[in-house]
Amino acid sequence: MNLILLGVPGSGKGTQAKLISKKYNIPHISTGDIFRTKSHKKVIAKYVTKGILVPDKIVLEIIEERISRPDCRSGFILDGFPRNINQAQSLDKYLNSKNKIINKVLYFKLPIQSAIKRLTARRICPICSKNYNLISEPPQKENICDSCNVSLTQRTDDTIKTVKKRLTVYTQNTKPLILYYKNQNKLRELNADKPVNNVFQSI
Ligand code: AP5
Repeated sequence: MNLILLGVPGSGKGTQAKLISKKYNIPHISTGDIFRTKSHKKVIAKYVTKGILVPDKIVLEIIEERISRPDCRSGFILDGFPRNINQAQSLDKYLNSKNKIINKVLYFKLPIQSAIKRLTARRICPICSKNYNLISEPPQKENICDSCNVSLTQRTDDTIKTVKKRLTVYTQNTKPLILYYKNQNKLRELNADKPVNNVFQSI
């Protein structure tokens, strides 16, 4: 099963992708996570920190290389890709050349105000990378990682200013993909404004 998770930043794509990946043993491919790795950070930080899209050429090269690896043979979950019509068309073209298709696109519906609350409340442990959320998943001690006992940090693009920019970029570039995949009869909508386990049940 080749899946795409689509939705506004903060709608829970990454959270649910990890759960699906674990349950069904298919790789979770997050372009955001790839861009935050040491090897890509330097070149790409100027886009990510401003909340704007990384140029398509760079993203497409990375995705094609990643989904051509053997672990993707029986399926993959794309989280954060595609993010505009050009990326979606290029993906279709690439998969077509490999006799593959996207089977389903899960569209996570979440009001913008809830997305803003979730993103600005996200915190991360700089050592073990565990994700916390000050509202839905707070650490036991204020701002301290439960396992590593160090202060939590915030993603550079989770500040209110950059979150607003990311949401604008989503509306302008990514939202048109809803219709793109609806027209292919691949879109399945789900209410993402529920606790993590309930969203997973719906999936
Ligand atoms: P990326 O890392 O993909 O960020 P995003 O799409 O903005 O998504 P997030 O990871 O912030 O949100 P999410 O929907 O995955 O939610 P999550 O589960 O994390 O991209 C970052 C940047 O990289 C982009 O801005 C761009 O610059 C670049 N980029 C990436 N892909 C690109 C591409 N294809 N082309 C060009 N540029 C690209 O959850 C968020 C928070 O909510 C967490 O704290 C979580 O604990 C909490 N939460 C999750 N689910 C729930 C729930 N059900 N209830 C309560 N809280 C919840």
